[in-house]
This record gives sequence, C-alpha cells and structure tokens, in this order.
Amino acid sequence: MTSETNQLWGGRFNQPTDEFVKIFGASVSFDKALALYDIEGSIAHATMLSEVEVLTESELNEILNGLDKIKSEITSGKFNWSIDLEDVHMNIESRLTEICGEPGKKLHTGRSRNDQVATDIRLYLRDHVVMINQELKKLLNALLDLAEKENNTIMPGFTHLQAAQPITFGHHLLAYFEMFKRDYERLQESYKRINTMPLGSAALAGTSYPINRERTAEILGFERISQNSLDAVSDRDFAIEFASNASLIMMHLSRFSEELVLWSSAQFEFVSLPDSFCTGSSIMPQKKNPDVPELVRGKTGRVTGNLVSLLTLMKGQPLAYNKDNQEDKEPLFDSVETIYSCVRIFADMVPKIEANKQNMLISAIKGYTTATDLADYLVKKGLPFRDAHDVVGRAVAHGIDSDKDLSEFSLDEFQEFNSNIDSDVFDAISLEGSINSRDHLGGTSPKQIFNAIKVGRNSIK
Ligand code: ARG
Repeated sequence: MTSETNQLWGGRFNQPTDEFVKIFGASVSFDKALALYDIEGSIAHATMLSEVEVLTESELNEILNGLDKIKSEITSGKFNWSIDLEDVHMNIESRLTEICGEPGKKLHTGRSRNDQVATDIRLYLRDHVVMINQELKKLLNALLDLAEKENNTIMPGFTHLQAAQPITFGHHLLAYFEMFKRDYERLQESYKRINTMPLGSAALAGTSYPINRERTAEILGFERISQNSLDAVSDRDFAIEFASNASLIMMHLSRFSEELVLWSSAQFEFVSLPDSFCTGSSIMPQKKNPDVPELVRGKTGRVTGNLVSLLTLMKGQPLAYNKDNQEDKEPLFDSVETIYSCVRIFADMVPKIEANKQNMLISAIKGYTTATDLADYLVKKGLPFRDAHDVVGRAVAHGIDSDKDLSEFSLDEFQEFNSNIDSDVFDAISLEGSINSRDHLGGTSPKQIFNAIKVGRNSIK
C-alpha cells in the first residue's frame, strides 16, 4: 500500500487509482442523498454490535457522538464530500475515523458496503413512499371534492375522442379517482417488501460475528429481515417495483394532463386552469399555456425510462452484488422526485380547476350523443336491439342531412322512422333523461355518483 492508495481498501494495491477511473467510479455526487439514512443504519448497527459485545460501550459512545457530529456537518452543508472516497459510505466512515480514531475503524465490523447500501436505499424509499402517498391522498380528496361540486355538470363522454354519450363531469373525475386509488393501494402494498432489512448479509455470505439481526431490524423499524444473504445484497426488485408503480402513476397523470391541455384550449373551452398554474407567451399576448399538465405529460417519459433502466440494469447480473448496482440510484431517485412533485402539483391544481358548464353542455348535445337512448327507447317499445340500432342510424343520417339534432325532430318526423315512437321520446333522449337513466353501480347518474363519492371518501379515510 502506498501513501496514495485508498485508505479504506488500499492494502493489497501497489498503484493508486487512475484519476479518471476515480471520477468514473465515484457515486458520491448522487448517493450523498442517502447520507442521513446511512447514518441511521450505522447507529443501529453499532448499537447492536455493542449489545453483542463486539464493541465496548465507550467505543459505541464515541461512534454515536462522531456520527452525530457528522450529521450536523451534513445538514448544515459543512461536510466536505470527496470523490477520492468514492461514495457516501466511505466518506462518512472516513470522517468518523478522523473524528474519533480507532472506534471509527471498528464501525464496519460485520458489515459490508453491499448490505449497507441495500439498507440505505430501502430506508430512503420507505420514507419517500410515505411522502408520495400523502400527496396522492390529497389528490384523491381533491378529485372527490371537485366531483361533488360538478356532479350535475353535463358533458360529452368520448370514445375514439368522438362524442359518445352524455356523462357528468363528476363521473369523469371519479374515473381518475379510481386510477389514483389503485396507485395509492399499489404503493401501500409494496411497502412491506421495501421494509425488509438486508443488514447482516455483509458482503454476500453473512458474517462470523455473533450479530443480532432482529435487534438491528427493531431499531430501524424494519418489519421483515431478508432470508438469504446473496439475495439481500443483490436484490433490487423493490426499487423496480417502485419504478413500475411510479410509471403507472405518471401514465395516469399524463392521461389527465392530456385532457386538461385539450379542454383548456379555445377549441374545447371545457375548463379553465388557474392563472397561477399557467404561463404566457413572450410573443403572443393572448396566450395562456397549460404548462403544468404539459410538463407532467412530458415527465412521464423519464419515469418510464427509469423503469426500463432498472430492469435492464438487473437482467444480466450474476449473484451476488456487482458494481452495476451503483447505477440503480439515479433512476430511482429521479422517479421518486419526479413522482412526488407531479402528484403534489396536481393535488394543488385540481381544486382550482373551473368547469365551463355552458360549453360542456352545448358540446354534450352535439354529435347525437343520445342516439343510444333512442335505440334503448325503441327496445322498451318491443323492438329487438339490432333493429332499433338500424332505425336510429337512419334517423341520425336524416338529422345530419337536415342539420338537426334528434331533440329538434318533430313527433311526426320520428314516427316516419318507427310508428311506435310516442311523445315520451323527448324525455328519453334529453341529456338529463339519458344521464338519469344510467342508474346502477358504476353508471353516470348523479345519484350514483353521489354514492360513489361517499364510498370513495370512506375508502381513503
Ligand atoms: N457505491 C456502491 C453502490 O452504490 C456501494 C457498494 C459498493 N460495494 C462494493 N463492493 N464495491 O452500489
């Protein structure tokens, strides 16, 4: 070992690390985000080591005081991060030895950076999943509140982006409630897999010290302890599962964004977004651009990309730990940060969405949206559905030729298409008639949506 070789592992080396290799291999620029979790893990590890008498009480105290000092250096921005020390773990350990000497060198007893980093990421993700779910819950409540306010607001429902049947805006919003509720549940269900402790697995095979893993897990609040040391140091399923859940959330936010972008355009004018969430154009004074939904839609790509990165990162790795795994952090952190800010900004924006009821209503009438109701009406009068479909198709063709909506037909006009049609047809094909008739679980009638809101509120209490 020369004076220039790494002080934490340089023993068997004759040459110092190439300068660019150092830069290439260093992760401290990004894994310092794990610093406080790394300290938390070290506190638990050292406490356990002293309880099983691998460390003395006075060594433990020196380690704890040193870690405490490092924590305040980090939080106050005074910690001197060095790429010569490669990663967050070695930066902290080396500083600890600077502060307290011999005891600092003993902290790593019975531990490896392999189980250490796996533990840090899990601690990090555990916290952030809770934070993300808090924002998701706000978003869910905001959707319920807006759905309640807009329960009687009629709009066209679309298939193929063609006006299909009238629905209420409340019903439409509750569709997003369902999507985000599944996302919320998925994150909650994944928590127990994240909350599993790898510490004690050491490099790959476990350790010869008399460690007490149950105790370390108890201190760190882990619900489970990993059952196989090889798996524990190399498993990143929990991160991939998160990245996948994050991709689903972004995909849902992106669909919602796409609708908000369309709906806030002059061509739709269904909603107006709050000024505080939009920007103007430097050249076109009339513009109000829906930047927030556009950005959210745009950020979906990187979150999906992060999932693909992590899957690809893992697919060729033999057991157990490989340096490849250092590449897990940036995609994971990026998905965490992106998803957190996107959910949060939607939770803030949704309560401020204003529906343009008049335009939604006008649009709901266009495009013969109650044609299905006319067919259903004929079925109730005894026609088989296929025949009714044909009759209505011809009526719609006549409407298009004469530039008339079905509601503008006279009774005589209707009767030319089928003599069973009576004056009660006008109620059946009105927008309100159409909506109120879909009165079953999952249907668009305001009565059902009112119930769905109640059920929804109870489900996220
Ligand atoms: N910086 C490394 C990582 O992120 C820590 C583990 C290093 N372990 C090793 N055996 N080189 O994965």
